[in-house]
Amino acid sequence: MEKFRFLTSGESHGKCLTAIIEGLPANLEIDIDFINFELKRRQQGYGRGGRMQIETDTAEFTSGVRFGKTTGAPVTLVIYNKDYENWQKIMSVNPSDETYEKSFTKYRPGHADYAGSIKYNQKDLRNILERSSARKTAIETAVGAVAKLFLKTFGVECTSKILQIGRAKTIEEMHAEIDNAKQAGDTLGGKFEVVYKNLPVGLGSYVHWDRMLDGRIAQAVMSIPAVKSVSIGDNHAYKMYGSEFHDEIFIDNEKIYRKTNNAGGIEGGMTNGEDLVVKAVMKPIPTLRKPLKTVDARTLEQTEAHFERSDTCAVEACAVVAEARIACVLANEFLLKFGGDSMEDYKNLKL
Ligand SMILES: Cc1cc2nc3c(=O)[nH]c(=O)nc-3n(C[C@H](O)[C@H](O)[C@H](O)COP(=O)(O)O)c2cc1C
Repeated sequence: MEKFRFLTSGESHGKCLTAIIEGLPANLEIDIDFINFELKRRQQGYGRGGRMQIETDTAEFTSGVRFGKTTGAPVTLVIYNKDYENWQKIMSVNPSDETYEKSFTKYRPGHADYAGSIKYNQKDLRNILERSSARKTAIETAVGAVAKLFLKTFGVECTSKILQIGRAKTIEEMHAEIDNAKQAGDTLGGKFEVVYKNLPVGLGSYVHWDRMLDGRIAQAVMSIPAVKSVSIGDNHAYKMYGSEFHDEIFIDNEKIYRKTNNAGGIEGGMTNGEDLVVKAVMKPIPTLRKPLKTVDARTLEQTEAHFERSDTCAVEACAVVAEARIACVLANEFLLKFGGDSMEDYKNLKL
C-alpha cells in the first residue's frame, strides 16, 4: 500500500539524477533552500572523497510545483551532475561514440560488479558501477527533504548522530581513525542513529506483515548502499531481562507516559507516541586505494581491484540518507492514516 511513491533514475557520471514523486497533497509549501541544505548535509562529513568537491548538489523542480506550492500533480526533481562535463563522450547514448575509455573488467569486491555483470550480461563493469553507485542517494535525499517538509507541517522533527566509526566512539578518536585509514589506503564504516520526534500514535499496523512500521523502516534503511544492519530501539535487547527491557506504562493527569524507550517508539508494528529511534551499521567503503585481490573478468587472471576516486568513510552522509529514507516511509504512513488531497484537509486534525 503506497500513497507516497517515487522512482529515481540517473547514473553516477550521467547528465543528471531524476525523481518523480506521486501522492503529495496540493498546497504544500516547497522550501527549496531547505532541500538544498539537506543535499549539502549529504555531501559533507569527515573522510569524504574528491567527487564531493566537484559537485555542489542543488535540486530543480520541473513539474508539480507552481509559485512555491505543490499542485497535486506528480512532482519531478532533477539534480545535474557537474562531473558530466568530463564524461559526456564516455556516458553518451549515441552508438557512434562507443569507447573503451574508463571501461574496466577487474571486479571490485564488496560492490555489485560481479553479480551485476552476470545478471545483466555486461562485459564493461562501468555499466554496473554507474547505477549501483551511491551517487543516486543524492536524489533520494532530495525526495526525503520534500517528505520532511510535509512531516514538518505536523510538527515532526528529525535528528541523527554518529555513534561509532571503526572502533572509535568520540569525535577526536573518529577523526584520527579516519586519518589513519586514509593514510594506509584503507577505509572505514560505522554506526549511526536517527531519531524522529512528535509522531502520532498508530502509524503502521499489526494486521499484516507488510504493514508493520518496523519492517518498512528496516527495508528502507537496509537498502541504502553499504548498510548491513538496522535496529529499532535498544539493540542490546538480546542480553536484557524482560523486566529491564520493556517500557512500563504510567499515567499522570490522564496522560499516558513512559520512563524508558527501549522499544524505540514502535510496539506491534505501530508508533506508540515515544521517539522513533533507528540505529544502523554501515560496512567499510569497499573501494580501497590499497587494492583488494580479485579476478579480471576478461582474462580470468588473478589481479587487483579497479580503483576509482572514493570516500574513506561516509557514515555521516549515510545517516542523512537514512533520515531521508525514513521520512519517505513516515510521509506514506501519514497519507495512509489521514488521507488528504490538499494541505487544507489537515487543518482541523488533532494528533
Ligand atoms: C553516502 C554513501 C557514499 C558512499 N560512497 C562510496 C564511495 O565513495 N566508494 C565506495 O566504494 N563505496 C561507497 N559507498 C558504498 C557503496 O555504494 C556500496 O557498498 C556498494 O554499492 C555495494 O552495496 P552493498 O554494500 O549494499 O552491498 C557509499 C555509500 C553511501 C551510502
